[in-house]
This record gives sequence, C-alpha cells and structure tokens, in this order.
Amino acid sequence: MTNEPKTWTTAELRQLYLKFFESKNHAIIPGAPVVTKEGSNTLFTTAGMQPLEPFLLGQSHPQGQRLANVQVCIRTTDIDSVGDDSHLTCFEMLGNWSLGDYFKDDSIAMSWEFLTSSDWLGLDPSRLAVTCYAGDDTVPQDTESAQAWLKLGVPAARIFFYGRDDNWWGPVGQTGPCGPDTEIFYWVGDGNPTGEPATNESWLEIWNNVFMQFDQRDDGTYEPLTQQNVDTGMGLERTVAVLNGYANIYEIDILAQIIQTLPAGVEDSRRIITDHIRTAVFMAAAGLAPSNLDRGYVMRRLIRRAIRHGRKLGINEPFINKVAAAVIESLAETYGEVKSQEAIILTILTAEEQKFGKTLERGLREFDKAALALSDNKKELDGAVAFKLYDTYGFPLEITQELADERGLIVDVNGFNEAFKSHQEKSRTATAGTFASGLADHSEQVIKYHTTTHLLHEALRRILGDTVQQKGSNITPERLRLDFAYGAKLTDEQKQEVEELVNEHITKSLPVTREEMSPDSAHKAGALGFFGEKYGDRVSVYTVGDFSKEICTGPHVANTSELGHFKIAKEESVAAGIRRIKAVLV
Ligand code: ALA
Repeated sequence: MTNEPKTWTTAELRQLYLKFFESKNHAIIPGAPVVTKEGSNTLFTTAGMQPLEPFLLGQSHPQGQRLANVQVCIRTTDIDSVGDDSHLTCFEMLGNWSLGDYFKDDSIAMSWEFLTSSDWLGLDPSRLAVTCYAGDDTVPQDTESAQAWLKLGVPAARIFFYGRDDNWWGPVGQTGPCGPDTEIFYWVGDGNPTGEPATNESWLEIWNNVFMQFDQRDDGTYEPLTQQNVDTGMGLERTVAVLNGYANIYEIDILAQIIQTLPAGVEDSRRIITDHIRTAVFMAAAGLAPSNLDRGYVMRRLIRRAIRHGRKLGINEPFINKVAAAVIESLAETYGEVKSQEAIILTILTAEEQKFGKTLERGLREFDKAALALSDNKKELDGAVAFKLYDTYGFPLEITQELADERGLIVDVNGFNEAFKSHQEKSRTATAGTFASGLADHSEQVIKYHTTTHLLHEALRRILGDTVQQKGSNITPERLRLDFAYGAKLTDEQKQEVEELVNEHITKSLPVTREEMSPDSAHKAGALGFFGEKYGDRVSVYTVGDFSKEICTGPHVANTSELGHFKIAKEESVAAGIRRIKAVLV
C-alpha cells in the first residue's frame, strides 16, 4: 500500500476550523466587508476583531459569547514584505472569540487540540513553539499563558517571552481593546527546529491568541475592560502551506492557480502581481474603484505596482484581465459575491490598466532620464521629479521609490511633499469660491461625478416619477452619493433601468452648457432647483443635451463623453422616505 501524503485545500481548512469551533459551542458569524465605512479607524478591515469591537468592549452580541468566522483582511502595511514566502496584503483570517466567556487556559487548550490532534490538523508538536508577553511596569508577565502551554506538554525551551513589539496586540487605531497575546509558530526550516521566533525566520507565525482585557485610552493609559475576552487569528494561507510542507504560500491551491497565469521570470514580481491583483479584486467586489484619495488610492497603487511588475516580467500588453479572472475563479466557490460581480470587477481593473498603460512607458523614460542626469556622487532624485511622475504620469510615489531603489538611489520625499502641497494650494486659490457644497474638491474626477449626479437625478425622475427630488449630494473622487425623496426600495430592474438611461446619455456625447438667467426664467425653462432655496437675482443653469436642466453653481464637464461607464454601487435607505444611491464611474 502506498501512503500518499495528503494535500490540504483551503476549502478543507476553512470548513474544519469552523466545524471544530462549532463543536466547542461557537456560533459561526459572517465576515465583514473588506472596505470599512467612512470614519472608521482604518481604511480596510485588518483583523476579524475589528467589526466586533463594541462587543469586546462589553455590548452583548446577539449570537452569544462564543463566536468564530473567516474574515478577509487587508493589511497594506505589509506591502513591502510581499514577494517573500509568507506575506500577503490580503489574507483570510480564521478567528474565534470569547466575549467575556472562556479565557487563557481554554483558549490555549483549544488551539493546541485543533493544531495537534489527529482528529483535526495533526501537526507535529515537536515543530511548534510559542511566545508569551514578557511584562513591563504596567502589565505583568503573562505567566498564566506559559503555565497553560506547559500543562499541555510544550517544553519550557519552546516557550519564549517577548515585550510589547511582539506579544501585545491592539488597539486598531489610537484607542480601543487590546492586550497581551500568545503566538504560535511552526518550524518551516530544514532539519530540526532551532533558535527562536524573534531571530529565526524559519519559525513561521500561524496563530495569535490575544487576551483582550484593556481599553487603551487617548492618553495612552489602559482601562481594564468589564470583561476578559479572547480574540484569535490564524492565517489560512500560511497554515495550508505548513500542512502541505510547502516552501511558500504561492504553492497552495488558491494562489497557485493565479500565479500560474504569469510567465516564469522574476519570482518576486510574479508573487507581487498575484497578491496585489487578488487584493484589488476583493476591493472592487466591495464597491471600491481606483482614485487619488484614501481607499481608492491604495487600490490604485496596488494595481499600478502590479502593472509595473508585469513589465519586469516582459509583459508589454494588457494582462490584468487574465490574472483577475484567475483570482475570481479561485474565490468563486467560497465568495459567491465576487463571482457574481465578475464583469464589473474586470471592467474596473482593466480600465485602470488602460489608463496607466497610456503613461507608464513615458513615465519610465522620464525616470530614466532623471536618474541618468544625476552626477555620480548624487544618489537622491529630486522631489520635483517624483512629483512630475506622480502628477503627469500617474506614478504613485512608492513606485518611483521602488524604481529608485532598484538603481541604488533614494527619492527626496520631503521635496515631493512640498511640491504636492504647493500644487494643491495653487489649485485651491484658482478655484476658491466656485464650488457648491457637497463637492470634496475640484479634481477632474469630482467634476465628472458632479455631472453624472445631474444625469442620475433626471434618470431617477424619469424611471420612478417626478416626485423624486434631490435631498442632498456628496461627491468625492471615489464616488457620487445622491440622497433623494422616494418611498420604496428600488428593485433590481429599476436600478438597471436607471443605469441604462444614464449610460445611454453618456454614450450620446451630449454637450453640457451653462446659461445665466433669473430664477423665474429658470423655473419656466423647467430647470430643477431646490425647493425653498434662496436664489439671488441671477442663477446659472446647466443643461445636458436635451436630457437634464438644473440650477447649479457647477463646475461640470463640457461633454458627457468624458464620463465613463456608470454603475450603481449601493442603494439604501437613510431616513423615512429618503433613499441614498452611491455610484461609480468605471
Ligand atoms: N487580532 C489578532 C491578530 O490580528 C488576532 O493577530
């Protein structure tokens, strides 16, 4: 009989993990969206505990005190490590929580059982090591965790104590739940385990059990929480790699099927593309589009960096579609909402590739020219050059820094920031006072969204009836948001009809014109205006072809052909009788 080694799949580990914690009376809860709400501590969900913060702080959770789930996490702080064997900007975290129920002993015993029992993962205990909190003036050494490990048979020589940098977790942002943690490492090196996790990279962290018992305050002090919580996180991709004895995570099923779409060559670049496009797909599925602001900028940076690495692999034609399609396929079974949005995700990503593709070559030439012009002893590229690459050629600063690094150069980041600031100030002065409220800035994208808002407003009135009236609008470079009076949730058909009507008028390349007139003539001409708003003697009226007419202070694009493809990202209620639509141009 042959004894073929078993190959673990990610689907299997996900299921087994949830089954184990279900058998320990945990309720299985859904993961949260990867893109956080405006005003959150972080731009993306970085850990499974993030959506659970109120419950860690004491609020009672409707599903009880024991929870478990799979959370897709985005951690772009790890971006510079991507390319190595184990770091990703996006990973799936298997997590279990005790909200004031079990604490250190049980949490540690459950982790040990799941990892080492032959009924579950059956990992070799002699290849495991753990770390515990060493203690300081405010919080003492975590001897309870160490005792719990000893009791399970972990030898003292495999228990290491480290300080805040290694064995303390949280808060996310400046304040919130946090505490000492105990981390579990697996030996992935050759030969017998040796050394310790802090100094030997062959010890790979696979699971972190945090004992959240403090609320960190604004002033940095710790307030004991009313309850003692457990918050754990196990890396799905890493653990599957460990179970299969793989040298790197890109060998596991869901990542191998992506990396295989890329030609052999620079391995780092293949890994970076795989990781970054996977993250961008999750972002697009959550309704995000690339832009120059916050979340959208992070997404842009990932896609553009992936494209640049494509060039390093010798790919000179568009390739993101193929990689993204492989990502979507790898997620289809588990993340149906990604698969069902395949068309829009591919449109968003390839539009960004097209945009950057237009300027990338010229930007690279500009960079080469500037680098070659440096005298032999000057190793620093001017901030103004980096700014030009950013402003004219769409190079995120980090890409310029990476290019510089590859040539042994650095970029004058202060100079870049100064150039950036002075550019912003100039454009602010030039346009001061011309913007109606609701516009985040004067950028090209915001102006496009502003015109699109007029089209949307009119389309809603035509599809839903002219009782629809705009109640508010907020536009950022990432999306438009329109609030309007209407009494019911829009059906899928209505949303589709609205999208089609807006897109039809975008495709018609309608001119946008501005006229000044008295408020009275504006109303007579059928221009929409806000009921009850006070107008002066003269108002400006914007007309889009023969479709829309509104009193508005502008600014707007000159022609709808500039807008792109319109897509409703979300439709929801904000108050009784008021609906909100968020929409994007892709
Ligand atoms: N919140 C802990 C982590 O992310 C489990 O490591």
